Amino acid sequence: MENADFGKLQVRFPGLDDIPDAARLDAPIHQRVSLVDGELKTWDGACKTVLSPVCVRQDSGEIEQVVIGSYPVMGETESDAALDAAVQAYDHGRGLWPTMTVAQRIGCMQEFIRLMAAKRQEIVKLIMWEIGKSLADSQKEFDRTITYMQDTISALKELDNSNSRFTIVEGTIGQIRRAPLGVVLCMGPYNYPLNETFATLIPALLMGNTVVFKPPQYGTLLFYPLVEAFRTAFPKGVINTIYAPGAIVVPHMLASGKINVLALIGSSKVADYLKKQHPKSHRLRAVLGLDAKNAAIVLPDADINLAVKECLLGALSFNGQRCTALKMLMVHRSIADEFLERFTAALENLKVGMPWEQGVSITPLPGMHRTAYMTQAIDDAKAKGARVVNEGGGVFCKTLFYPAVVYPVQEGMMLYREEQFGPLVPVMPFDDVETALEYVITSDHGQQVSIFGNDAAQLGALVDPLVNQVCRVNINCQCQRGPDIFPFAGRKDSAEGTLSVTDALRAFSIRSMVATKETDGNKALLDAMVKNHHSKFVNTGFIF
Ligand code: G3H
Repeated sequence: MENADFGKLQVRFPGLDDIPDAARLDAPIHQRVSLVDGELKTWDGACKTVLSPVCVRQDSGEIEQVVIGSYPVMGETESDAALDAAVQAYDHGRGLWPTMTVAQRIGCMQEFIRLMAAKRQEIVKLIMWEIGKSLADSQKEFDRTITYMQDTISALKELDNSNSRFTIVEGTIGQIRRAPLGVVLCMGPYNYPLNETFATLIPALLMGNTVVFKPPQYGTLLFYPLVEAFRTAFPKGVINTIYAPGAIVVPHMLASGKINVLALIGSSKVADYLKKQHPKSHRLRAVLGLDAKNAAIVLPDADINLAVKECLLGALSFNGQRCTALKMLMVHRSIADEFLERFTAALENLKVGMPWEQGVSITPLPGMHRTAYMTQAIDDAKAKGARVVNEGGGVFCKTLFYPAVVYPVQEGMMLYREEQFGPLVPVMPFDDVETALEYVITSDHGQQVSIFGNDAAQLGALVDPLVNQVCRVNINCQCQRGPDIFPFAGRKDSAEGTLSVTDALRAFSIRSMVATKETDGNKALLDAMVKNHHSKFVNTGFIF
């Protein structure tokens, strides 16, 4: 088999001279600044070296991860400074940013988008080098993020315009708008470092909150080209960055009680721990995207070719490193052999290589600890009776890991419940659809599920219990987050709150209102307030 053996994986890593000019980073980025209170503060303390998932064959013949830069390793003193700057900029809701008109905030965001768009090439390359995402997917991530930001602005205009009026009920006049919550701590994941971080950061800012932003462990340097844009586009203290080990500074910031919203895309274990650090937990709103173990249920009458195509994409896009990835395939026993045969044949056509190669699907993982975990999960399954059914599955060289289809997976194996977050495809046969349903019901996760079949009555009967277990049931297609207008949520350990272009604006705000009795005197007061623009909140203006 073309892709599978170690030697064949080894030669996928380039020599230094084999990297095409267009794919090269201009130079390593040794970031020494952080943005605090509107200033780029220079750091001369300890720094962390950033290794790319991409390895390069050295003259000595050794294959080593490429050093692409470094960034500061700060501590509590610096996180205090970043947090205090955000607290000061919010100023109990009296700061420049939270009291700005929505139109003015949108103006700042549009300026930021303009500055960000100019950095596309630089950021795309950094996504590619820092997390090993293919060039095409890195471009997609950047473009999708810009679209998300523009759509969020449109949604905010619509939201604000629809609130630009008074309502009179039972003799009470009211104007209801959405107001900010305070200081938001924003942390995104490594797999969609730009997109998922901005899916919370941008709505948080637009609603008038101030932010402390901690980039993910892998995926930090790619924000460097944006630090100056943050500084230029927003008033001082509105966005502040911290580069530090999360385990040290994040609990510390939460324990201060100064954080009003925790926006985290990460693990449920970490989220649980962090929430408990806040001294008054009822004051902390959490917007969380967490673990998932989305399953596919392939029914006996499914279109096997379609199911194979969607399951392959669902399980292995970006090496399976998507929160929405299909992480367990449950296939009816009557078609399991045929499914596996076609699935493994389709898998063989996936191109393995470096992120810049055209048409590449399988790219290097963030570090050797990930290939070690994948190997451990396979060994565990093998010891408990499963086998790798595709040739070369599980072979790895340094950070490059050839996907393994593991069958039959059953309860008690790591792969049965653990979120593998990598190129492993556990397949489990079932005889009775109740078994598949039971798997979803007894799971700690509740993000999405995919069902493949052609009998409307059977699918309908399956949809009803499943929608009460997860937040999206995909019929004859893989699980996914998009389109971003749709709600993205999860039950159990998979999420807290709902994200989408419109839902995120709500997640980072609260309805607040001004009310008065419907008397002539009060009407005249409101009228004067509006006509003379005495209040930013009480207004009937329309944002075009
Ligand atoms: O990692 C989770 C991502 O938000 C998934 O997005 O389903 O569009 O790839 P996607």
